[in-house]
Amino acid sequence: MYITTPIYYVTDSPHIGHAYTTVVGDALIRFYRLAGEDAWYLTGTDEHGLRIARAAEELGLTPQQLVDDVSSQYRDVWSSLEISNDDFIRTTDERHKRGAQAFLQTLYDNGDIYAARYEGLYCVPCEDYYREEDLLEGGLCPIHNRPVERFSEDNYFFRLSKYGDALLAHIEANPDFVFPPTRRNEVVGFIKQGLEDFSISRASLAWGIPIPWDEKQVTYVWVEALMNYATAIGYGQDEGQFHKWWPAVHLVGKDILRFHAVIWPAMLMAAGVEPPRQIAAHGWLLVGGEKMSKTALNQIAPRQLMETFGVDGYRYHFLRDVSFGPDGNFSWEGMVDRYNADLANDLGNLANRVLNMVERYRAGSVPAVAGSEESDQKLRAAASGALEALGGFRRFAFNDALLEVWRLFGAANAYVEENAPWALAKDPDRAGRLDEVLNALLESLRVGAILISPVMPNAAGRLWGQLGLEGRPDTAPYTKTAVFGVFPELTVRRGDPLFPRIEEG
Ligand code: MSP
Repeated sequence: MYITTPIYYVTDSPHIGHAYTTVVGDALIRFYRLAGEDAWYLTGTDEHGLRIARAAEELGLTPQQLVDDVSSQYRDVWSSLEISNDDFIRTTDERHKRGAQAFLQTLYDNGDIYAARYEGLYCVPCEDYYREEDLLEGGLCPIHNRPVERFSEDNYFFRLSKYGDALLAHIEANPDFVFPPTRRNEVVGFIKQGLEDFSISRASLAWGIPIPWDEKQVTYVWVEALMNYATAIGYGQDEGQFHKWWPAVHLVGKDILRFHAVIWPAMLMAAGVEPPRQIAAHGWLLVGGEKMSKTALNQIAPRQLMETFGVDGYRYHFLRDVSFGPDGNFSWEGMVDRYNADLANDLGNLANRVLNMVERYRAGSVPAVAGSEESDQKLRAAASGALEALGGFRRFAFNDALLEVWRLFGAANAYVEENAPWALAKDPDRAGRLDEVLNALLESLRVGAILISPVMPNAAGRLWGQLGLEGRPDTAPYTKTAVFGVFPELTVRRGDPLFPRIEEG
């Protein structure tokens, strides 16, 4: 399983929109690892193009200084968000340059790249050409609401027009190729309108990768950026590694769907490489109902939220409260409510209560004995329901899966009330039952720690330690470990509360 995020432009510092894609991908890759599958997670930064060259100039920096600085901000944020990427590609890496040149040369040798004169209207922030009729009144870019520029030069073109039928056939034969289905329909509609060849190089832009057969031209940013998914795993340099991981699952925002679901698969077909396994597109994360942007001054940096919610609270919120596909609205109040209800109360209090009782009534150790009353059976059923639901990650159904895991914690809380361990503790004849009850509760927490580990690796690890378990909660495969069995006799070590309550104010 090879999963990628888009490579982020280094003109912007990381905000919660970028982090959304990266956190989703991380939960997904951790899920696949937990399922015992071989998995590779790639993210990185997109560092070439006119936009970057101009931004550097404005700041009085060289392009290299600018990209080094912002790229490292991305790496720092990903590490504080516990992102477990296996690799980080920068389009300024030598390996990317060599791989991209090999890729282009193949397209050229196969006859799908040709020279022609280009004249068009170009939006620099989009790094894309526009047709007159797609502009807003006054000739403004529909995305950036600012004037486009007229460019005219000799360029190389990619024969995209040749691939419409092959793309439609591929989508038809692979219904999950574009996910969710509404996005697949959008892509099919777009292809059916007819695809046009497009320019892939620029004569005037110095901050890019030289075209191998004509060093006066450099590659055009989108085509060059897309190739990162191939160059990072060794395209043109290490075929063994490339074929080990290819084809990829690409996670993207809806804004860049066409590049990934139309242009990129066509480029791969032209190069004789199999298309990606899947393109999964999510919506926008809105702040106050609007898309985040520098000009709207509504960008939120992940750190601003992590200070209050911690890394686990952060990751949990975006997976639990934003469904993958439609736009989602971020609200501080919503995040506080979710944290207090699910993390501080349902899970945090449960853990605290159970560990406390084990210490009080059993000096920290409970023998491995399982009960068979009706309440035990109900709790076990909730645990197997939660295990089953985790498989929803394969369909990007993170929120449904988490809801089901929380049903297990809800069932464990109800089980405490039903069995009233404090009453059992007073009755020496019921000492055996008390052991069973505490054992079942520790089991619920152990299974829960495993099931939350893709989303909250840090909290899962802490809970594991508090249960007195050795090793890690994310040992694969979870289908063997996250089952109610017998809790080995262990000594719990109650530590700090997992999720201290957040007081609103
Ligand atoms: N560099 C290109 C991608 C090249 S991939 C070969 C690019 N970069 S970007 O930094 O502008 O945006 C990358 C991705 O960040 C978006 O597709 C999306 O996944 C994510 N998001 C950026 N803003 C977002 C929101 N407000 N909400 C959710 N995701 C958003 O495009």
